[in-house]
Amino acid sequence: MKIKTIRAHELLDSRGNPTLEAVAILENDISAAAMVPSGASTGQHEALELRDGDPNRYLGRGVLRAVEHVNVEIAPVLAGMDVTDQREIDQIMLDLDGTPNKSKLGANAILAVSIACLKAGAAANHLPFYAYVSTLCDPEPTDKFTMPIPMMNVLNGGKHAKGSADFQEYMIMPTGAPSIVEAVRWGAEIFHNLGKIIQEKGWPTTVGDEGGYAPPVRSNEQPLELIMAAMEKAGYRPGEQVSIALDPAATELHMNDTYHLEKDGRKDLTYEEMVDLYEAWIRKYPIVSIEDGLAEEDWDGFNHLMEETEGHVQIVGDDLFVTNAQRVQIGIWENAANSVLIKVNQIGTITEALKTIKLAREHGMTCIISHRSGETELPFEADFAVGTHVGQIKIGSLSRSERVAEYNQLMRIERELGDRAQMATFRFAR
Ligand code: PGA
Ligand code: ZN
Repeated sequence: MKIKTIRAHELLDSRGNPTLEAVAILENDISAAAMVPSGASTGQHEALELRDGDPNRYLGRGVLRAVEHVNVEIAPVLAGMDVTDQREIDQIMLDLDGTPNKSKLGANAILAVSIACLKAGAAANHLPFYAYVSTLCDPEPTDKFTMPIPMMNVLNGGKHAKGSADFQEYMIMPTGAPSIVEAVRWGAEIFHNLGKIIQEKGWPTTVGDEGGYAPPVRSNEQPLELIMAAMEKAGYRPGEQVSIALDPAATELHMNDTYHLEKDGRKDLTYEEMVDLYEAWIRKYPIVSIEDGLAEEDWDGFNHLMEETEGHVQIVGDDLFVTNAQRVQIGIWENAANSVLIKVNQIGTITEALKTIKLAREHGMTCIISHRSGETELPFEADFAVGTHVGQIKIGSLSRSERVAEYNQLMRIERELGDRAQMATFRFAR
């Protein structure tokens, strides 16, 4: 089915910042819309998110130039193309942009179109979105699907919740749940019990950007104690049924080659000292995954963490890899991580994101499909995670509609699939 036209316009994301929505309209008038998320603790090697910089609109964060790039430059070139030719569509936009980091058209402009075409392609083929995604990944698509284990960010800190912990994300992973429906229930029950515990301490139960609580904890370890208490209060066995995943987003803690943990009153930590801290916590708590435990350029630190944890813990690169196959390749050579966080807006096209997933998996690395801290009301990650069969998804907490929309979509997919859905197993379970 051919593309008739593509239209973009400016809307708001979950933080009230402007973002793009692109609508791909096909010749039979079927259409599909996609919105672009946005990060706060962004990696310096991410593709460029084009903002207008006009201080008189949205504090400089408007995206009207990116909108114009879609409407004036991209749309005429893609009109008449087969919408299911995703690779060619993405390549044409890459060629039109011609820069290494998509700074001419803007990665936000390009991605909005890339996802809108992907969704329209699914509609044109009369396939559920996840099923269509799987046809792009697998040479021989099956009718069985792997439901991803969610990482649920129940306590927010860092750049997503000022005043809370220095570390950005304290997540629970229902690694023992038999289904998404059960995983979501377990997660929501633990989340609500955590809220009660925080309330009993006399702290506010306000939430951060990703819907997790953001209490004024006394140390960076205290969230772990609170989460353990919440798991027990909710009646789940820590480590067996539910594990813990961390995203310290350590690039944000890194200055002058050392790490600073304000909440703990500790300054100038070396990467060895950071790894010592993680090891002590791994012994004490059921931590199975650490993302960006070191800063984005600290390859030695990442390698040290890999060696010390000896393959028992999932070591995830987010800012480190920025969903970029070239950086993942360096990570493979350096033995820096055994897992890749996949955020499509870090790289800017569906085709490149799929290429990164393929490379990672060929080298035995796990992949996690991830949202951003600034999200939209149109779910994407749920279908993308099911369609790519990666087995893990990171979509925030069990509150705020833009996060819950993804959990709800996962539950819809699982119910629709019935016994064709199978829960993923977690390689790093204890
Ligand atoms: P971001 O945070 O979207 O603000 O970059 C998410 C993460 O670091 O995983
Ligand atoms: Zn991260």
